[in-house]
Amino acid sequence: MTSFLSTDLIIEITYLVATALFILSLKWMSSPTTARHGVWAGELGMLLAVAGTLLNRGIVDYKWVAIALVLGTIIGVPLGKVQMTAVPQRTALSHAFGALCVTLVGTAEFYLRAPNVPRFMMSVLSMEVILGSLTFTGSLMAAGKLQEILPQRPITYKGQNIVNLGMLAASVGVAAYLVMHPDHLYLFPIILVIPLLFGVMMIVPIGGADMPTVISLLNSYAGLSAAAMGFVLDSKLLIVAGALDGASGLILSVNMSKAMNRSFSNVLFGAFGQEQVAVKGGQETRAVRSATPEEAAGILAAASKVVIVPGYGMAVAQAQHKVRELYDNLTKRGVDVKFGIHPVAGRMPGHMNVLLAEADIPYDKLLDMDEINGEFPQTDVALIIGANDVTNPAARTDSSSPIFGMPILDVDKARTVMVIKRSMGTGFAGIDNPLYYLDKTLMLFGDAKNFVGAIVRELSGGDGHG
Ligand code: TAP
Repeated sequence: MTSFLSTDLIIEITYLVATALFILSLKWMSSPTTARHGVWAGELGMLLAVAGTLLNRGIVDYKWVAIALVLGTIIGVPLGKVQMTAVPQRTALSHAFGALCVTLVGTAEFYLRAPNVPRFMMSVLSMEVILGSLTFTGSLMAAGKLQEILPQRPITYKGQNIVNLGMLAASVGVAAYLVMHPDHLYLFPIILVIPLLFGVMMIVPIGGADMPTVISLLNSYAGLSAAAMGFVLDSKLLIVAGALDGASGLILSVNMSKAMNRSFSNVLFGAFGQEQVAVKGGQETRAVRSATPEEAAGILAAASKVVIVPGYGMAVAQAQHKVRELYDNLTKRGVDVKFGIHPVAGRMPGHMNVLLAEADIPYDKLLDMDEINGEFPQTDVALIIGANDVTNPAARTDSSSPIFGMPILDVDKARTVMVIKRSMGTGFAGIDNPLYYLDKTLMLFGDAKNFVGAIVRELSGGDGHG
């Protein structure tokens, strides 16, 4: 019995179950109906992976493990409590910590094994350390840009791409030499330091608007470096988990780039946002038509079909529960209410879906851009709540616009357009929105939560009359 259930076997079984849970977690997270199970599966998988590792006979002293657990908890708990709008930079910080860990483990393994490092081992070790280092500094830079600690605008100079690619090529070259001559220990710090520098330089020319896509790409790098560490440490769990992370991060970046109609190289090297002529709130002089909550309530009550388009401003205002009240009120009146969700509305993938699900809006009322766009011509009112760029018709018509070619929600095809936002201020891309100057558009100036709340009050007060 003892030999049948040896510690090694228990560890293997624990890792196998953890691996299966990670795969299920990703599968379940692809639909809002199963997403919660996905989160639980991921958490349980991680708990099993940590528990299995703690059984490892290679651990000679649990003191350091305990200290690391306490430190990790002290840092991790506040990180788990950030506002949802700050999740992209929080995610970037997690990648930075993971990448730092991978880099340190790789460095320790090299010096433990050198000078006799077999070629395959040296190749994966180099990959681990290069990807880990550049992901560490790159993720810190990305988090800094998103948190606006660092300037968001792209910073460029002549020959920048050549310098950056040169640094990457130099590290790969030194790594290749080390694979052939692992006894040249003095070369190892080079494949640590150059990628650390490259991580910084890689992010400098990328604008804040592209950071979420870049974070997703860094997620992919962190996963690949963890998979490489799996080969170094002979851990199948790490290989699978790292590969899942690497592949899902890459797929997500590709999908996000597609939703913005950008190519990968344009995101990485395009310095998007640099040439923007920002139209700051208050500078625009063209006239717009505005309306009060009372007038907006009257128009909505008279409509038979309304499409609500939420955006980043709804998240900032935390207006989703008020939006739910509006949905309930209008639905009770017999108005057909749907939600049009743009794939990059907000600041992270699925941002709007998560918020609206939190407010218990039925999933079947949330329609993707491709599903809802055909319905706008038959829509009485398109009610935009804190969205801007994802509704900007310049993406269709103005080839000089930085967002030209990005697929948008065709709200301008609805009979009436109402836009809730606080001012004439721009969205993330920093550009003006011609939608606001159309004759059919009414600007509803105010905080999204307050304005939607005021409409709901008008509608409730108006029950029986309308
Ligand atoms: P944005 O274009 O950023 O516009 C948000 C609007 O919300 C702003 O114009 C702002 O106008 C308004 N707002 C802010 N706080 C508000 C409040 N408390 N109440 C009411 N309105 C408020 O948002 P979007 O349309 O969701 O587009 C997302 C942007 O992020 C796109 O450019 C997209 O490419 C970019 N992006 C997103 C992602 C993901 S994955 N979601 C990834 C990369 C890039 P006022 O200041 O006038 O109120």
